[in-house]
Amino acid sequence: MRKTVLRSDFVVRVDGVDLSQPLSDDAFTALRDLWMQHKVAVFPGQDLDDDALLAFTRRFGPLFVHVQSQLVSPDHPEVMYTKNRGTKAPVKGVLDWHSDQSYTPKPVFGTILYGVTIPAKGGETCFADLVAAYETLPGNLRDRVDQLTAVYSPVKKGHIRRHSLSAAQLEEIPDVTHPMVRTHPYLDRKALYLSPNHIVAIGDLPKAESDALLAELTAHATREENVYCHSWSPGDLVMWDNTSVMHRRNDFNHAEPRFHKRTGFHLPEELAVPA
Ligand SMILES: [Fe+2]
Repeated sequence: MRKTVLRSDFVVRVDGVDLSQPLSDDAFTALRDLWMQHKVAVFPGQDLDDDALLAFTRRFGPLFVHVQSQLVSPDHPEVMYTKNRGTKAPVKGVLDWHSDQSYTPKPVFGTILYGVTIPAKGGETCFADLVAAYETLPGNLRDRVDQLTAVYSPVKKGHIRRHSLSAAQLEEIPDVTHPMVRTHPYLDRKALYLSPNHIVAIGDLPKAESDALLAELTAHATREENVYCHSWSPGDLVMWDNTSVMHRRNDFNHAEPRFHKRTGFHLPEELAVPA
């Protein structure tokens, strides 16, 4: 296993590991710790079928199943297919900054995205380091967000969403509240918790003030030095920690096919976030 740290404590590329093969407990723990420390891990050149992808995901914790059942693999409800061909819900355009399933009471902890078919240009997945964002907030603002919660909704007017949810699916996910600062359950590391695509209110602030604070925090968190964009190649597996980063997808050429498989996992119950 050969690691290349792309940014200090943020984004590590790992070569020379075949994730289709079972890892020993020691190798798995080393890999998990490396990923957690760096928040985003990139494993190029993988060749994984759904079973292998699920077996790898399952090592980290209980599998996540997405509420949008129209997007999952026909054989495995724990594998989500995001593609722009041959699906009722094709992916297209920009997907704005968000943290996965932040609009649910128990957001997915880790997300794994595996690139199968990749357009020649665009479609990068960008990550913003929310630990760095928290640590570099001015002291008075950090003290303020430490005390705040935010209200999340799956549908936020005027923001770009990848798919529309059915009325029944929306019924399943009423608005939820999370703290704006979370502590990593393994590393005792604080991060801003931010999902601009889903936050509809901060605390009980008047709307204008809430919107202004969200815009200020988002601008701070997405400063160039806090952001890394991954340009996909087929066979790339990228995993990230939704407590420590948020992400977005850039637009891509829709004349070309794009296909990713996605899985996710929760933490063991006693470590579940928000914490
Ligand atoms: Fe996402």
